[in-house]
Amino acid sequence: MTDKVNPEIERRIAHLRQGLHQHNHRYFVLDDPIISDAEYDRMMKELIELEESFPQFSSSDSPSARVGSPPLEKFETVTHTVPMMSLDKGFNEKELISFDQRVRKLLNMDTDIFYTAEPKIDGVAVELVYENGVLAMASTRGDGIRGEVITANVKTIQTVPLRLQQNTHQPLPALLEVRGEIFISKDNFKLLNEERANLNLSLFANPRNAAAGSLRQLDSSITAQRPLEIYIYNVSDATVLGTDSQAATLKTLKQLGFRINPLILSKVTLSEVIGFFRDLDAKRLELAYEIDGMVVKVDRFSDQQVLGMTSRSPRWAIALKFKALQERTRVLDIQVQVGRTGALTPVAYLEPVNVAGAMVSRATLHNEDEVMKKDVRIGDMVFVQRAGDVIPEVVKSIISSRSGTERQFVMPSVCPICNMPVSRDVEESVTRCVNDECPAIIQGKIKHFASKSAFDIDGLGDKLIDQLVDRKLIFSYADLFALNVDVLKNLERMGEKSAQNIVIAIENSKLISFARFLFALGIRHVGEHIARILAAEFKNIKSIFGATAEALEAVEGIGPVVAHSIVDFFAKDKNREIIDQLIKSGIIIEENNNAKGDASLKGMTFVLTGKLETMTRSQAKKLIEDSGGAVSGSISSKTDYLVAGDSPGSKLVKARTLGVCILSESDFENMLS
Ligand code: IVH
Repeated sequence: MTDKVNPEIERRIAHLRQGLHQHNHRYFVLDDPIISDAEYDRMMKELIELEESFPQFSSSDSPSARVGSPPLEKFETVTHTVPMMSLDKGFNEKELISFDQRVRKLLNMDTDIFYTAEPKIDGVAVELVYENGVLAMASTRGDGIRGEVITANVKTIQTVPLRLQQNTHQPLPALLEVRGEIFISKDNFKLLNEERANLNLSLFANPRNAAAGSLRQLDSSITAQRPLEIYIYNVSDATVLGTDSQAATLKTLKQLGFRINPLILSKVTLSEVIGFFRDLDAKRLELAYEIDGMVVKVDRFSDQQVLGMTSRSPRWAIALKFKALQERTRVLDIQVQVGRTGALTPVAYLEPVNVAGAMVSRATLHNEDEVMKKDVRIGDMVFVQRAGDVIPEVVKSIISSRSGTERQFVMPSVCPICNMPVSRDVEESVTRCVNDECPAIIQGKIKHFASKSAFDIDGLGDKLIDQLVDRKLIFSYADLFALNVDVLKNLERMGEKSAQNIVIAIENSKLISFARFLFALGIRHVGEHIARILAAEFKNIKSIFGATAEALEAVEGIGPVVAHSIVDFFAKDKNREIIDQLIKSGIIIEENNNAKGDASLKGMTFVLTGKLETMTRSQAKKLIEDSGGAVSGSISSKTDYLVAGDSPGSKLVKARTLGVCILSESDFENMLS
């Protein structure tokens, strides 16, 4: 190594250490990170690599030697009897394969090794100490050696057993220390932030920060109101349970009453572990809680013993991390988009950033109030997130990195598309363009009409609809049925053949169920669910035409807002004319909206919660609706059944309070069959 390189490397190491110390503090102590997890991981990885290549610069107080920050002064602290170590991280399958090779080499094994593969819950690590079967103390990991005592707070968590279940064959251990992860589910996180927004409180950046913040309350009655949950994954000293493997330990822990993640795979080979990693990555967005990777552990304790530890982490385990779903980037501009209801939606235009494999350059800000609540300004650094298949959204702005040149967003007073004045209802957060002739509204309505859940017209994409409206070839969705090959073939990116296909697709869409037809009309507040209820009740379009608000409100599931919106829609001559035009073009509305003709669940309202094993939530929803039932998003006194999958959270608690009948997944399956 030349003398020139060393000072540079020393400076880089010092820079990384200082940065990581600061970010640790923000993350662990203040619950207010200003960089993404991915950036943090990259910095830590670079530091560890530099320290390994240049041991002359090693230092005992490097952030790499200690994960986490010292506990806050206000809580009592405790020294863990066995340090809570962290895990070595890998970021791809190759690193998993090298881990397996390393393990086999150290164990002198050339055959398959058995592992446990566990989802890596993105929450807060805790230790629970049970004395003679009773929860005596709970603590955070802290710096791994000493943690904060948070017993009162942890006792408020429903899924933490306060007393162990007595197993007839075995006496309870005198002292048992278990470790696990405390977290908040995605649904509950959203509710929590909504509540906080209403109270003008600062929002949590993500479920993990919300969980950490909730656990660090000096007043445990506040913690009690937070929807915390736990999964247990380890014991500090397995000899206490007399088990010889991770698989056996998890089984025993389950018998003792601990909540163990049901997705965990025990005694699997490397190739099964890789398969699990891919599966988990593919379904992570659908899971009820956030995971940031997978933890792989050598199953047999005798093997773990041989492998031992480094100063930082065990050699018998590795955490394989997914790509982060949240990244940090800059807001270049905020512009408004006009949707089919005329709603003006502020959209943040971002410096493009790769979020878990997809480039994100725009993110929704929902509405004016949301922009104000989140205080997002043009020029701000923000966290953006992808969640589920929804469009990316801005989570929060990083106020500490403002320079003073940021500009506040102002909702325009005229529609950016048609220049007509916009209006905002005092009751609503939404600003709308109220010009029925606004091209953006017409385009939006036609796109909705042609979409999968409505007329499902193949090949009639957004760009084509934009062209048709811009060139004044159509003025409403009813005009679609007058389109012919001659008109279509002259449009951009169109030919004779594709024009013919579209005409055929339009023709084929003419036979439609009553529910789909109602949904396609684009009546405000009439989504797929309400459309089904209406179709089941009113049977045909004529009877809906004549229905009064009172008659509509008398239908279970239809409230006054929906009822008035429907009455208003059909009261407009223009809408009636369009419907007449549709029927004259040969549209046939099937009266029976129920595909199977089975109405065994008619009149029953279901709520789904938690993760189902044998079907997705949307499949379950479809099954219920196909049998005439309705699915609602929240529990109320009108709910008949709660179908509770894994990790059910607060809905289960609310259902119990209201005396709603709770079905397990198998109860639900029996009911359907
Ligand atoms: S095992 C020495 N198993 O990941 C073994 N950790 O850096 C220590 N985590 O602090 C942990 N799910 O907060 C383990 N199934 C799991 C886990 C898990 C999440 C977290 C935990 C730990 C960190 C590892």
